[in-house]
Amino acid sequence: MSVFPHIDLNNGKKVLMVKGKPFIMLAGEVHNSSSSSLAYMEQVWEQAKALGMNCLLLPVTWELTEPREGEFDFSLVKGLIRQARQHGMKIGFLWFGAWKNAQCYYAPEWVKKDLKRFKRAQVIKGKSFIRNESFYNMPYSTLSYLCRETREADARAFGRLMAYIREIDGDENTVVSVQVENESGIMGAAREHSEEADSVFEDMVPQDFADYMNFHADTMAGDVRDAIEQGACRGSWKEVFGDAAEEIFSAYHVAGYINAVAEAGKKEYPLPMTANCWLNKPGDVPGGYPSGGPVSRMMEVWRYCAPCIDIIAPDIYARNFTEICDEYTRLENPLYIPECATHSYAASRAVLCVGRYNAFCYSPFGIEDMGMPFSGGQEFLFGVDVTDPALNIPQDVEEYGRINRMLNDLMPLIADKYGTRDLQAASCETGPTASFHMGAYRIDAVFEGPMMKRRDGACLVVRESEDTFYLIVHAASVQFFSADPSRQSLDILSLEDGQYIDGKWVRDRRLNGDEAVMTSYDRPTLLKVRLFAYD
Ligand code: DGJ
Repeated sequence: MSVFPHIDLNNGKKVLMVKGKPFIMLAGEVHNSSSSSLAYMEQVWEQAKALGMNCLLLPVTWELTEPREGEFDFSLVKGLIRQARQHGMKIGFLWFGAWKNAQCYYAPEWVKKDLKRFKRAQVIKGKSFIRNESFYNMPYSTLSYLCRETREADARAFGRLMAYIREIDGDENTVVSVQVENESGIMGAAREHSEEADSVFEDMVPQDFADYMNFHADTMAGDVRDAIEQGACRGSWKEVFGDAAEEIFSAYHVAGYINAVAEAGKKEYPLPMTANCWLNKPGDVPGGYPSGGPVSRMMEVWRYCAPCIDIIAPDIYARNFTEICDEYTRLENPLYIPECATHSYAASRAVLCVGRYNAFCYSPFGIEDMGMPFSGGQEFLFGVDVTDPALNIPQDVEEYGRINRMLNDLMPLIADKYGTRDLQAASCETGPTASFHMGAYRIDAVFEGPMMKRRDGACLVVRESEDTFYLIVHAASVQFFSADPSRQSLDILSLEDGQYIDGKWVRDRRLNGDEAVMTSYDRPTLLKVRLFAYD
């Protein structure tokens, strides 16, 4: 029997296993429309390879998969899988079903046109369409999370998709994960306001859910916890969840809907499944960001209501990148970033995500444009800001490719160290300096200072054995120390740059003399160092 891509534990940490080996998705998400054309994709696969990626995240849309109800067309899925294999790469598919950016852009026209059967969310009572004042006055409509017909149709289509993927890829495992929907939730209000929604909101909260929320209140965001602790143990949504009731109500129904879709898919082919989220910013109210979506403050609700979703995946465009990574690795949620910016922190964030957060997936968005001057609203999306020059500079593609190739080559060693202190990383975004304590040694990295010309560095250290280390150093300098109080002196036995190919070190230069003193690296460099501590 085939062992499909699945999640396993390594040193107590979740890892993605593909064909019996850990696999880290060093991915890129393509623009929304790219994967609708196989011809267009040819050049995108080439770009991804040049960027050292081992995987692409590709939309598969409901509208093109089921153009007429019950008639399925998987020709794109088949073609994309064939292309990935030709390029020696993997795929994470993104199911653009009922939700895409909290709207219903990708529902097929037979769904969009039948408003009676496939009800729209009434953000304002009686209205299926609004101009959303809380979001730049944009036209807004989405499908109702309470509509059973929509959920069943969406789930049926997704089930057929997963069955097809299993049929053509169950042995080869080119497809390693699937995202169910895209940035779910509703904009413009914290919950739906149809007659039906009002009446369900007045109903009693299912008791097992109320109990679960009370029992898990400790880990929740402050205001959610307070609302639950002050609320009743049983009663209507408002009585149990107080001021957090409307968002929790939406999350309960959105997560339940997405779980039903994921479950239909898993029945056919149980690949790891994710739900991505449009993040809330401090001060945002639900509805100003998609209410009911899997934001960190609703993670406990999603855990309860969507057991078929393995990972909550943040789309990170905000500046406080590391804080968000910390938030989304709570509750043993592995770090899976399907979308992030392509400004010049992109490469150092890849290093950080793998080395510090033991990521499943790191994937900048719109990789077709990486390295090009920002356009089409990217400045806005990426939070470009003159106070931080690194945000204004597009990622250097050659450097990105080098870093990804280093991570890829070291993958067996790195993945083996997931969940241990033998793998550590830091970047300019975690502080100007960092110290990695590993056994008898300490390795310091410096990202800011007179020696450093740039401010977008990162450093990853992996300990292979007691005194042998590999380092990815990018725009940083490193120094080595003994951390053993009984052997405080230190010699560098050997320092080399080079490559790690097929599990073996291939030396380029032996670094000694000046090069063993001035250990500062402006460009991505892979080092191997052997240390010796003595009295
Ligand atoms: C977030 C969405 O999930 C993506 O599909 C894309 O629309 C990006 N925003 C940016 O354009």
